[in-house]
Amino acid sequence: MGKLVVCDHPLIQHKLTFIRDMQTNTKDFRELVDEVATLMAYEITREVPLESIKVQTPVCEAEAKVISGRMLGLIPILRAGLGMLDGVLKLLPAAKVGHVGLFRDPQTLQPVEYYVKLPTDVQERELIVIDPMLATGGSAIAAIDVLKKRGCTQIKMMNLIAAPEGVQAVHEAHPDVDIYVAALDERLDEHGYIVPGLGDAGDRLYGTK
Ligand code: PRP
Ligand code: URA
Repeated sequence: MGKLVVCDHPLIQHKLTFIRDMQTNTKDFRELVDEVATLMAYEITREVPLESIKVQTPVCEAEAKVISGRMLGLIPILRAGLGMLDGVLKLLPAAKVGHVGLFRDPQTLQPVEYYVKLPTDVQERELIVIDPMLATGGSAIAAIDVLKKRGCTQIKMMNLIAAPEGVQAVHEAHPDVDIYVAALDERLDEHGYIVPGLGDAGDRLYGTK
């Protein structure tokens, strides 16, 4: 079974509080989401493998570590996932980016796919699927399905806030996928919103409500 990692660094938790606050305006919301995404990128890459190389310092030759293993790919789920993308790219500027466009039908809560564009070598990369919200888990499961159909095997999920229902659904559908969140909230309400959550992430990022 995949693991659930709650990134409980004090800076992440502090910023998340103001992301949740309904008084936070669009500009500040966007900046805070960007900052938390950068901090979460630090946590999610904690276990990437290293190898030793030789480097000439001004003093002598030394053995020093560099990142090895698979190249990274970032997969934001449109549209709200875009709000976290630049923050992650700040730490991982060489990563390639694939986009998966999904929206959740408000009546059925089922994800509807409208766009997929992935790097040509996506199946060779270690992937991080990015979306602020993991609610029922339908969108995350659909995005991971898209990637697995293309032959991808190393996939992690990064969310700001998850509901227990969504975590369970993703782990059942994709037991090989680890999920990194800033917070695990209480539950979903009758409209499929995370409680207490932050409201509609896409609308708050882009000022569409
Ligand atoms: C939100 C969110 C996730 C999805 C989560 O996107 O960004 O993609 O809902 O819900 P789920 O876990 O129940 O599938 P939304 O469908 O509102 O689209 P948007 O990003 O275009 O606003
Ligand atoms: N999508 C959101 O943006 N927020 C929720 O609480 C659930 C799904």
